[in-house]
Formats: sequence, C-alpha cells, structure tokens
Amino acid sequence: GVISLQTGASQVQDNHSMSKMTSTSHAPLQKWIDKMITLCTPDAVEWCEGSNAEWDRLSNLLVKSGTFTRLNPEKRPNSFLARSAPSDVARVEERTFICTRRADEAGPTNNWAEPTEMRELLQGKFQGCMKGRTMYIIPFCMGPIDSPLAKIGVQVTDSPYAVLNMKIMCSIGSSVLKRLEEEWSGVAPKKRHGHKFFIPCLHSVGAPLEPGQQDVPWPCNEDKYIVHFVETREIMSYGSGYGGNALLGKKCLALRIASNIAREHQWMAEHMLIVGLEAPDGTKTYVTAAFPSACGKTNLAMIVPPESYQKAGWKTSIVGDDIAWLWPHEDGKLHAINPETGYFGVAPGTAYETNPIAMDSMLENTIFTNVALTDDGDVWWEGMTKEAPAHLIDWTGQDWTPDCGRPAAHPNARFTAPASQCPTIDPQWQNPDGVPIEGIIFGGRRATTMPLVYQAYNWSHGVYIGATMGSEMTAAAAGTIGKVRRDPMAMLPFAGYNMGEYFAHWLEMRRYLKHLPRFFHVNWFRKDENGKFLWPGFGENMRVLEWIVKRCHGTAAGHETQIGWTPAPEDFDISSMQNYSREQFEAVMNYHRDEWKAELVSQAEFFLDLYDHLPKELIFQRELLAARLA
Ligand code: GTP
Ligand code: SPV
Ligand code: MN
Repeated sequence: GVISLQTGASQVQDNHSMSKMTSTSHAPLQKWIDKMITLCTPDAVEWCEGSNAEWDRLSNLLVKSGTFTRLNPEKRPNSFLARSAPSDVARVEERTFICTRRADEAGPTNNWAEPTEMRELLQGKFQGCMKGRTMYIIPFCMGPIDSPLAKIGVQVTDSPYAVLNMKIMCSIGSSVLKRLEEEWSGVAPKKRHGHKFFIPCLHSVGAPLEPGQQDVPWPCNEDKYIVHFVETREIMSYGSGYGGNALLGKKCLALRIASNIAREHQWMAEHMLIVGLEAPDGTKTYVTAAFPSACGKTNLAMIVPPESYQKAGWKTSIVGDDIAWLWPHEDGKLHAINPETGYFGVAPGTAYETNPIAMDSMLENTIFTNVALTDDGDVWWEGMTKEAPAHLIDWTGQDWTPDCGRPAAHPNARFTAPASQCPTIDPQWQNPDGVPIEGIIFGGRRATTMPLVYQAYNWSHGVYIGATMGSEMTAAAAGTIGKVRRDPMAMLPFAGYNMGEYFAHWLEMRRYLKHLPRFFHVNWFRKDENGKFLWPGFGENMRVLEWIVKRCHGTAAGHETQIGWTPAPEDFDISSMQNYSREQFEAVMNYHRDEWKAELVSQAEFFLDLYDHLPKELIFQRELLAARLA
C-alpha cells in the first residue's frame, strides 16, 4: 500500500491504486516506522507485500527511471540489467562500523565507533534523506520461518532496486509481517526463539531530490556508512545501493548481527556454503566450506562431479552458497540452515564450462548488476564464452569492442537469482531443522604455501587452521587486489565482535556436540612458477570432496605430516583425470618448510594484534605446529 505524504520532486512516480497495508498492529514496529518517516521525510511510504504483481510494478518503475534495462524476454524472461554508479561497486570495509560501548568489544579487526556519537552523526545524515523518494518497508525473514534460528528483520529503504533483490534473497512481505504480528499479539504460540520482535534495518542511498530535480539511474552518496549497533541489534546503512551494503538481511544481519546473537545463544553464523554429497551407496554427507569473498563458495556449492564420478553414482546438491547458520541439534550433531533463498553470485568467470548450475539458475527472473549488454539484449561477462562478442555495451554504459582495453563487466559484477531455480537444489534446503554437518572446510586463494588439501588433527587444530586462514584480496571489496591478508574463517569483514572472542566461541562450541565434524583446509588456487594453476579446480574438486567425505566416515587413509593429515596419490582418484600426472598431484600437494616458516611469522603477527583476547589454546596450537616444523 502507498501512503502519499507530499509531492514535488520529479522522481518517476508510482501511481498504482492504494492497497490494504498502511500500518501494522505490531506496536513497536509501527512506532519505529513512524520515527523513520519523521526522520527521513519520504514523499510516499509503501509496505512491501512480496507479491509478483509488486515485482512487476517495481521492475517497470526501475525500467522507467533508467536503473534497469529489461533484457530480451525471449532470451532471459523477466530479467534485468542494472548499472551502478562507478564508485558503488562493492562492499566498503573501511566505511563499515561496529558500534559497542567499549572499543575492545568490537576488537582490533573491526572499525569501531562510539554508539552515541555514531547515532548523532547518522541522525544528521538520515535527516530528510528520502525527500522526493518513496520509502519501502520490507518485512523479511532470514531462514525458514519455523526454524529455531530464523530471524525477522524489517528494512526500510528508498531503493526499489534493494526491494527487488531482497525479494530474491529471502522471504519478504505480508506473510512475514503477519507472523510477526501474530506472535506479538500472542495468537501464535511463543517458542523459545520466537518472532515477537524484529531487527530494525534502516537503509538509504543518501540522495534526496529537491522539487524538480532530475533523478539519476543509480542514486548514491560518496559518503557511506554501514553501521551495526550490535548491543541493540540495529543496522543503519547510508550512501550505497550495492550488494552487501544495501541488502541488509545478508552480510549485515545474517553475519554481523547474527554472529553476536549466535555467540550469546550457543550457535554460529558463518560465511559458508553448504553442500550435499551423495555417495554411490546412497549415504549422504553434508559439509560446509568457508572461503573468503570471490574465492569459490558458489562454485563449490554448485559442483558438478566429473563424468566418471557421475557414472559411479555420485550426486551433489546445494543447500546454500554464502551463509550458514549452525547449531548443536538435539541429535548431538551440528545442524545448518541457509538463511537465504537466493544467490548473489559473482558473474565474471561463470560459464557453462565452469558452473553450468549457476548458468541454469539465472535463465529467468534474475537481476544482473554491472555486467555487459549484448546487441540482442542479453548479458555477457569475461569468461562467459571463449570468444567475446564483437560489440557490447559495457557495465559503464559505453560501447565496447574486444580490443578496447577495458573489461566489459566489472570484476565484482553479480547476478541475483532465486535458489528455487537451481537444478541441484537439495530437497532439504528449506527444512527448518537444517541438515547435519559432518565436515567443515576452510580455504583461501593462495598462489603458494598451501597444499590442495589437508585435514586437521582435532577440533582445536581445526579452529586454529580456520583462525589463521590467509587469502589474496579480490574485487569483492575495495582494497589492494592480490595481497595476502589474514581472513580468519573468511569472517574478517563479517565477525560482529572481537575476533579473539570469536575464536573462543568456536573452541567452546565443541562442548555442545556429541558428534564432532572433521576439519579440512583446501586451496584451489596454487600456482606454478609461471603463474599457472596447479590444480584444474571446479568439477575436479569433487576428487578432494570424495577424500573429505571418506575421511569423515573413516574410510580413506590419511597420512600424518607436519601440517596435518594428507592424502597420498593412492588415496585419491587421479587416474580418471585427463592429462594429470602423479607428479602434478605431488606438486599441488607438497609443502615447503621455508614457506611454512614465513606463514608462521605472518600468523604470529596477526595473533599479536589480538593480544589479550586470543585463546591460549590457539597459541598452543601454533607452538605445536612450530615444533613439528622445526
Ligand atoms: P562471494 O559471492 O563473493 O562470497 O564469492 P564466492 O566465494 O561464492 O566465489 P565464486 O564461487 O563466485 O568464485 C569466485 C571466482 O573464483 C570466480 O571467478 C570463479 O571462476 C573462481 N573459482 C571458483 N572455483 C574455482 C576453482 O576451483 N579453481 C579456480 N582456478 N578458480 C575458481
Ligand atoms: C561477499 O562479498 O562475500 C558477497 C557479496 O557475498 S556481498 O553481498 O556484497 O557481500
Ligand atoms: Mn560471500
């Protein structure tokens, strides 16, 4: 429904007939909404229903305003291309803040800000920020609504682009609001983790319109603030319309806020994919993997096994590709849900050769951001086909030819596609009870040092391996691409509290589990001296997963080494690989003591930053590793 507050600016106005929703019986929500309206002074307010009619109306609105280009419906039905402002293309980690009373609680790895001061500053930023625009109210639920871990949030935003992306990424609208209202009024049974309250998420692109002012296709502000008040569980995001900065259910709620809730209630909110692996004998094993942004989560979650594996009867399925919420289930195992219902995946490099499942998930009902437009109204990006089309419109809207020297798509260009369209979606993916996790994989993008795979000796060694993870930086965040940085559990930009305490929480979780998952470390990105990948990756990673599955069940050999348990060539099916020798396998598997010594020094430096919060158990693990390497 729409409440018209005032008119004036020349933003494309949306004059559909009024519908039912103009307020809520959830008193605290209504109070918060009223406060947000007073603060942001939008021209109109609209409650999102989450219906297809609403999708059509808003996507048409975005086409009219120039944010969206409708793709050729014969090629890509109900799909759109958005081009962002060139400065608003990725998460902005330096502008991301964790507000806690004491700086120490946010820890040395987060940008800390004093909550009262930050509130005052943001009050000024948000004051009148939606002038000339519509405020959309999006009730949303992360996770299957009946899951013990599911969380309801309400995002208010002046970005219809954010609304449509949120509709793909989680359940939104009237059904979620109804549940919130029922639990508030006591109609629905109150469970231990109920939906009586919501997490308030305020978002604005920070570009108010003066009367008569022409809007731009991608409004945003050079001054950006992605702020988390973790003690009061509130999110405020200002100035960006892109991805993790603007879809507040994703990184802000499902990782930074959720990691705080999880710490308090003995569960875990992690930057992990969840994949199901069915062996020829029918046993199904679920594993999670934490890789930093743009390091292969979506690809591994959607893995298609090599032909020989398919013939043998191996099957794979996806539960999630980016975020996992895990908890100790009554059955004594660690269970996991995916709090999302869509994929916000990296486009460049995605192709039928490397990830056909992703390609098939985005055939329709998909939003593409910062990819190139083909002459016949479809999308293209680097790596999609071997040969580039002769002419494109690039992600900045300019003509593009293969020899022009510029990339056609931005390296962090993304597709937003519904998980329900994924051909290998796991039958359990919406099970409120989650799936049992038997293996936890850590991994980064490392040209050197790290072998293809090794297994941790035990839980605390596993936590140590996760805690000391390193990875070369990618285009998923603003920064120096290629530089190795410590990215513990792939959570450096997402752990919403002190990193040392986060490690302690990981160590403590073991106490609540009867059946312990096994820990592994993988590296798909090791290179030879000529810069060539030593491992073909993608579907071939199934060979590593097979060893991992068998190690989880104790049916494959592992060899004790200085760094952990590793497979010998005999434990690994490389014979069915084309043009891959035992020597190549040995090259990707071996490790060099001098490189590991440098690794230990770099880990020590990182540990030093965490000083008094670092659990002694991890210092001990480092000592053990040093002793083994000596
Ligand atoms: P976020 O969505 O940012 O969290 O990224 P992600 O972890 O899901 O990474 P994604 O699967 O989208 O892969 C990112 C990049 O890594 C793409 O360019 C892929 O082509 C590349 N990649 C993924 N898996 C492999 C692999 O096994 N080997 C190699 N060499 N590259 C890979
Ligand atoms: C990531 O960077 O890990 C992403 C993309 O998944 S974003 O949603 O922008 O965080
Ligand atoms: Mn991610």
